[in-house]
Amino acid sequence: MRLQPFLGRISYCRYLYLKRKVLTGPKLTSNYVSRACFCSSRHDVPNKLEHRSGSEGSFRPLVLGIETSCDDTGAAVVDDHGNVVGDALNSQTKTHVELGGIIPPIARDLHQKNIDSVVTQALELAIVNLQDLDAIAVTVKPGLALSLRVGLQHAKMLAQQSGLPLIPIHHMEAHALTTRMIERVDFPFLVLLASGGHCLLAVARDVSDFLLLGTGLDDSPGDAFDKTARQLKLKNLPECEGLSGGAAIELLAKGGNPRAFPFPQVMTQLPDCHFSFSGVKFAAKKLIEAEEARLNTSPSSVVSSAPDICASFQYAVLHHIARRLQRAFLFCELTNLLPKDKTLVVSGGVASNSYLRSGLQQVCEMNSCNLVCPPPHLCTDNGIMIAWNGMEKLLQGTGCTHDLETLDIEPRCPLGRDISQEVIAAAIKLPRLKLR
Ligand code: KG4
Ligand code: ZN
Repeated sequence: MRLQPFLGRISYCRYLYLKRKVLTGPKLTSNYVSRACFCSSRHDVPNKLEHRSGSEGSFRPLVLGIETSCDDTGAAVVDDHGNVVGDALNSQTKTHVELGGIIPPIARDLHQKNIDSVVTQALELAIVNLQDLDAIAVTVKPGLALSLRVGLQHAKMLAQQSGLPLIPIHHMEAHALTTRMIERVDFPFLVLLASGGHCLLAVARDVSDFLLLGTGLDDSPGDAFDKTARQLKLKNLPECEGLSGGAAIELLAKGGNPRAFPFPQVMTQLPDCHFSFSGVKFAAKKLIEAEEARLNTSPSSVVSSAPDICASFQYAVLHHIARRLQRAFLFCELTNLLPKDKTLVVSGGVASNSYLRSGLQQVCEMNSCNLVCPPPHLCTDNGIMIAWNGMEKLLQGTGCTHDLETLDIEPRCPLGRDISQEVIAAAIKLPRLKLR
């Protein structure tokens, strides 16, 4: 089993280092940093109960978060200051890349196999028992029904054992607000979420208050990345072993020319903030087939122009997202939805792509906007974001329930209030966009 604190030690510690810089004084206790950085064998670190009765005499609420909406089994314990007390993750990426895509019953079986040990590991790293927690947050929407059900069932069992309240979490809201755990980002702000299941632009006005400006009309950007990587057979390259399709494309694209192959631009005539990635995906498929024929590539080999294909594909994805983002900025300006000192938060698995981030940074600069992205390992699915979203709800006094009977999953669930028709009605024309 892959456990995040051991696997991603460098990036994880860097994240904590960044947090140490941002959070000062009583906001960050070195106890919690040590526990999150080192494994559970560090029993010299005082546990939460000791901390509770320590010299500060303060009682810090703790929330356990459980994530199983897709293909990652995640669990984490966070406190009210955003300190990650314990975190564990079992990623199914390798299995699904081998199988050529996510097969829901297999995802369910792997969640079932791993959920108990992942949750136990998170609690052990935190050196706490269920009785030390204040609530259990669990993803209930949206996601794969078979996967969501495993997390909710496990959370219900823990709630029954402990008497703790459950906090049902919207997966995309959690992605949108993760960054508030690390640095100060005040409401309202613009948020772009790009993942394996979704692509959307929204204004976050409060912990549970979102206005949806635009959403995906067909394939998600993550799906376009994954299918293109598969079509290119990138899993056959040793350097791509264990990487998601998106991460593999990003790696190859580093050695390619983004202007090598022109991709058709999509939805240029529509005055909305919606997204479509099926055209880019189809164009990539046709391009790969043509290149394989032109270069006479053997069936299991990766075509030699793959770096240029990956770089050009990434540019096409960036360009499409950037055009929608331009319109979102203009709409928010027209309707005063954002303050003068505005922020764009970019999150979700695809947002861990540094090429996309730097392209979106350019669009932000053109619109006098501050760009904020969580560190890459918090962009992809994890238990931390669920625990933190639960904590924000707990602190607001909203979302807790003891009604285990009626609490259920919602595999399809939009984010917030849909105002995309208002965006269309504004008929906003876009100025030219020149990306470096
Ligand atoms: O948010 P996430 O972990 O799971 C969902 O909620 O869907 O996103 C997973 C998606 C996958 O499609 C994966 O290929 C993509 O995020 N992804 C990336 C990168 N890392 C992961 N896409 C582009 N560039 C990356 N570096
Ligand atoms: Zn996600």
